[in-house]
Amino acid sequence: MEIILRIISLVSSYRTNGNTNKTVSLIEQQLLSIANKEKITLEIEKILLSHFDIKTCCGCRACFDKGEEKCPLKDELLFIWEKIYQADGILAASPVYVEDVNGIMKNWIDRMAFNCHRPAFAGKNVFIVTTSGGGSSNHTINTMKNAFTTWGMNLAGSSKFRTGKQMDSVEIESRYSKEIKKVAEALFKAVKNKSNQRPSFYSLITFRVQQKCWQKSTQCQDTVDYKYWQRNEWLQRDCNYYIPNKASFLKIKFAQLIGSIVAIFYM
Ligand SMILES: Cc1cc2nc3c(=O)[nH]c(=O)nc-3n(C[C@H](O)[C@H](O)[C@H](O)COP(=O)(O)O)c2cc1C
Repeated sequence: MEIILRIISLVSSYRTNGNTNKTVSLIEQQLLSIANKEKITLEIEKILLSHFDIKTCCGCRACFDKGEEKCPLKDELLFIWEKIYQADGILAASPVYVEDVNGIMKNWIDRMAFNCHRPAFAGKNVFIVTTSGGGSSNHTINTMKNAFTTWGMNLAGSSKFRTGKQMDSVEIESRYSKEIKKVAEALFKAVKNKSNQRPSFYSLITFRVQQKCWQKSTQCQDTVDYKYWQRNEWLQRDCNYYIPNKASFLKIKFAQLIGSIVAIFYM
């Protein structure tokens, strides 16, 4: 049977001809070359967030309380959501702006906040890429990592590219050929081998914290969130993660213990 893998690359830079988009294009080429060698059909679709109509969150909480389809902002957010939902893996890239993600990425993350309550992307692999002038990218990576893991996604890795103000593709490729290859190999391997079946310790804890909070929230049983968790059978005592997984017994037990303690402070 032919294997078809789908990857969405998500670029938040406003500059179509900027460092982030060029770096992502080079990683995409590598991904296609790996897939070709392995005789696997790989479909990659790039989403340039700045080309889509994504309005600023107005904080009304309609997505949390009534469901994302009740958001009063009519734009293309759910169109992109659906693309990610259909994909096997995500390559998410942002330039560093004042030590964090740029505004386009942050606004998109804020608008996607309902996924923190209803993690529909549970188990999807994501690889994070940043480009920067030369400063630290740690905070930028953490902003995306925190959002994606809270949405239940599995972090396949992260990579930092120091590209200065403007670098052309040839220079990015010659300076970072090893790193580009490394990113492509890590993401391809994670997607192909379904590494989401081996959730990280951090992801297992995140799940446990959420599970404990919903299990205890007796007044919330009529909410969209509670029903979502119940429908997915994530509230059952023997459920240890969003998807069936191969995490070791000890890792799960230890994560559950820490998650249960952390959950006490959330309730
Ligand atoms: C508003 C703004 C803020 C920036 N802040 C930082 C920063 O804090 N640290 C850093 O290393 N680079 C910073 N940069 C440089 C960009 O991160 C870098 O040039 C990046 O590769 C640009 O990506 P792009 O060409 O895809 O837009 C900033 C650039 C802009 C325009």
